[in-house]
Amino acid sequence: MRYHLTTFGCQMNEHDSERIKGLLESKGWSEGASRDDADLILFNTCTIRGSADQRFLGNLGDAKRVKRERPDVVVAVGGCWAQSQREQVFSEFPFVDIAFGPAEIARLGELVARERLEAVGAFSFDGAFSGGLPSKRERAHQAWVQISTGCNCVCAYCIVPSVRGRERSRPAGDVIEEVARLASDGVREVTLLGQNVNSYGRDTAREERWTFAELLRRAAGVDGIERVRYTSPHPKDMRADVIAAMAEEPAVCEHLHLPAQSGSTRVLKAMRRTYSRERYLELVDRLRAAIPDLSLTTDLIVGFPGETDAEFAETLSLIERCQYDGAYTFLYSPRPGTEAADRLEDDVPAEVKRERIAALVEEVQRVASQRATRFVGSTREVLVEGPSRTDPTRMRGRLRQNITVNFAGDAEPGDLVDVEIDSATSTTLAGRLAPAAVAA
Ligand code: 5AD
Ligand code: SF4
Repeated sequence: MRYHLTTFGCQMNEHDSERIKGLLESKGWSEGASRDDADLILFNTCTIRGSADQRFLGNLGDAKRVKRERPDVVVAVGGCWAQSQREQVFSEFPFVDIAFGPAEIARLGELVARERLEAVGAFSFDGAFSGGLPSKRERAHQAWVQISTGCNCVCAYCIVPSVRGRERSRPAGDVIEEVARLASDGVREVTLLGQNVNSYGRDTAREERWTFAELLRRAAGVDGIERVRYTSPHPKDMRADVIAAMAEEPAVCEHLHLPAQSGSTRVLKAMRRTYSRERYLELVDRLRAAIPDLSLTTDLIVGFPGETDAEFAETLSLIERCQYDGAYTFLYSPRPGTEAADRLEDDVPAEVKRERIAALVEEVQRVASQRATRFVGSTREVLVEGPSRTDPTRMRGRLRQNITVNFAGDAEPGDLVDVEIDSATSTTLAGRLAPAAVAA
């Protein structure tokens, strides 16, 4: 009994896929090398932009071929695309046997068993949090920890609230218990995950409420956990207590992914982001003042309906002003059912969108390369992840600032080592293991 799973989309999906694998393996399935080799073909899908749908549909075509050759194969489609296409999945793709939304992962065992006419093993479980399910971790020393699900924001372009539902916070005790369990299992770095992590707890009764800042501090205090990250925060919910926790807790890393989306107040308002350019910049200044050597990354959308040249120029100027270490840049993609797609005309010509994104990417790379040089000549703590992807004689790891380092020297995955950095590109650093410090 072999399965094959392909994952698309964000870190929440990567997390969920580790749970899908853990759940299947707990029921006796093992991972097959390819779809041709599998009795169960699964997809964990994304639908954030039209391009995500296209990438998935290409892969689904391959599953159709396998199903034609071997009709006994079970094809299961989960995640956000499956959720958004609820009604049409089976009529448009009749070779699909199972469709399940992000909140239904716990039921997957049951759905698969029913499809294969096997006895159904019961799984009593709160389906909303896949975080409580068995997991097959892809990385031995790093783990995702889900703290909330869903999103209450109303960003005009975004499909996520309609596919992932209202925000729900996972009980704080469960989160900390999972972090402690991971630590005792050898994990040294955890990333707290949610669609909007820093509104954590607001849906919980006041008497038992923990704020995100409290949760962050408690996670950072767990014995054996050396590094804590979190993603993604919304700028509107970034309070002083979170900044203080980042500044004060030694385990909380000096890296923040803070999606700006646009640098224009007019566009931000149309996007319903609820902050202005000025408020975003003030926040960045407060973060930089509190956390020296903070690495800041962001998400930016170009070509939102009505975006003028001047408004785009305000997004472009954000890069230099905020000194980002990196940014993900996206072409606006109208998603049916969202406010922007239903009420605003997608009026920025494709060619203009392409010109804008090219200029943006170039600027992001220029600033990131300049920023990366600040590490050259210094010795930094690196969490070792494995051999370098390009040169197996070297090792690969990551700085607290979340930047990848390839280095020469002996080290094992999971080690925290000091590396002398001697060169930099916009995305990676290179160096060598620092000579061992002599004990005093
Ligand atoms: N078009 C383009 N980019 C989008 N994003 C979300 N929805 C859209 C859309 N409709 C981007 C945002 C978000 C990231 C995950 O994807 O920048 O932060
Ligand atoms: Fe894609 Fe958004 Fe779903 Fe993540 S939450 S898989 S980015 S649609």
